[in-house]
Amino acid sequence: MTRKPLAFIRTFGCQMNQRDTETIRGLLLEAGYGFTEHAEDADLVLFNTCCVRENPERKVYGQVGQLKEVKAGKPGMVIGICGCMPQQKEELTQMLERLPHVDLFFGTHNIHRLPGLLHKIYATGERIVEIWDEGGEPTEGLPALRESRFKAWVTIMYGCNNFCSYCIVPYVRGRERSRSPQDILREVEELADRGIKEITLLGQNVNSYGQDLKSELDFADLLEELNQVRGIRRIRFTTSHPKDISDKLILQLAQLDKVCEHLHLPVQAGSNDVLRRMNRGYSRERYLQLVERVRQHVPDISLTSDIMVGFPGETEADFADTLSLVEEVEYDSAFTFIYSPRKGTPAAKMPDQVPEEAKKERIYRLIDLQNRISLKRNQELVGHELEVLVEGTSKNDTQLLTGKTRTAKTVLFPGTEDLVGQLVNVGIREAQTWSLTGEIV
Ligand code: 5AD
Ligand code: SF4
Repeated sequence: MTRKPLAFIRTFGCQMNQRDTETIRGLLLEAGYGFTEHAEDADLVLFNTCCVRENPERKVYGQVGQLKEVKAGKPGMVIGICGCMPQQKEELTQMLERLPHVDLFFGTHNIHRLPGLLHKIYATGERIVEIWDEGGEPTEGLPALRESRFKAWVTIMYGCNNFCSYCIVPYVRGRERSRSPQDILREVEELADRGIKEITLLGQNVNSYGQDLKSELDFADLLEELNQVRGIRRIRFTTSHPKDISDKLILQLAQLDKVCEHLHLPVQAGSNDVLRRMNRGYSRERYLQLVERVRQHVPDISLTSDIMVGFPGETEADFADTLSLVEEVEYDSAFTFIYSPRKGTPAAKMPDQVPEEAKKERIYRLIDLQNRISLKRNQELVGHELEVLVEGTSKNDTQLLTGKTRTAKTVLFPGTEDLVGQLVNVGIREAQTWSLTGEIV
């Protein structure tokens, strides 16, 4: 091949996966690849997959299936599947059978091996399957091709130890492994040097950061260290497990100037019986107390959540508890999910699986309630002046800029493209369910 080979990458799932894709792109760039937005034009097509629910898995089969013909007319094309799906043994076996035109399978723990694996494929022409069961020490120093010039994700820990009974993540991402504070600090300083203004610290459960390290430093201490990095203006983090939020962290949330007034605090359900069977490690009452404590210290905090309907055995009364909790907390917004049984998790084997119809009906009621609350919370901001990090022009109207407040709300306002990447103050004039509109002041 004399011209530069082109790669196409499709990413499914959470921010962790999106961050992994940035590493994959960095590795491919170093290996001499260019990138294309069209799978048909690519020499290498990669699917970075998610297995947290059934839907994204089905899409992978569909989209990879569609490439079969394309590849038939393009013999040199290499197709690979990576990320969380191949980490599940049964799923991998199924993919190997049902997707014979896929040349490469690798997992979440051996991304750094990609250049070598590709080399092997080109050298032998054989199908390569390499999945590691355990992550071991986090691999440092990998390149990354970041999506944004002014905001960046920074992974601070990998894996999860919680084993919520519905969740596949601990099985495919392994046990909790924290990066060293020195490595994280160095990365954030480098990002700041390159003009990055906002960082989002990533981990399945950032509140247990450092528990596997020898040092005494915990997540609240890490925030304090990072708050001192010059050039960084905003610090976000996700996801927080309610059972692990310390008072020390709440104080840091209130005190550290760069740490944004936003807490993503997935509740999952409002019924104590369901919470117990989910193995969440907190009760409805403890969760509500936590919310109260957080609001006492940071009154203007925006709270968001993940909420699930249709967990096995969820009765109408259990679901009513979820609705009443949502009403009580008044989240700024929430991701809502229909429970999806995952093979190998305890919940998949529980009796009384909820019928599809009931699940759908419940999620519509939940979304309806949350939308009303989101609108109300947004309306409370009309007349306020908020700091916005300008992210780009609006997709629907190029006269408008779009950006995010410290509380993670989307704001639309008239302005010119030179403001992209800047912090501006916007007076809020109107509120919608999903966004705010205003004018620069
Ligand atoms: N079914 C539906 N939703 C799930 N989540 C995790 N596992 C499942 C599942 N089996 C949701 C949880 C979690 C979010 C990332 O995905 O709400 O917080
Ligand atoms: Fe899954 Fe629970 Fe771990 Fe989140 S905390 S990744 S829901 S097991």
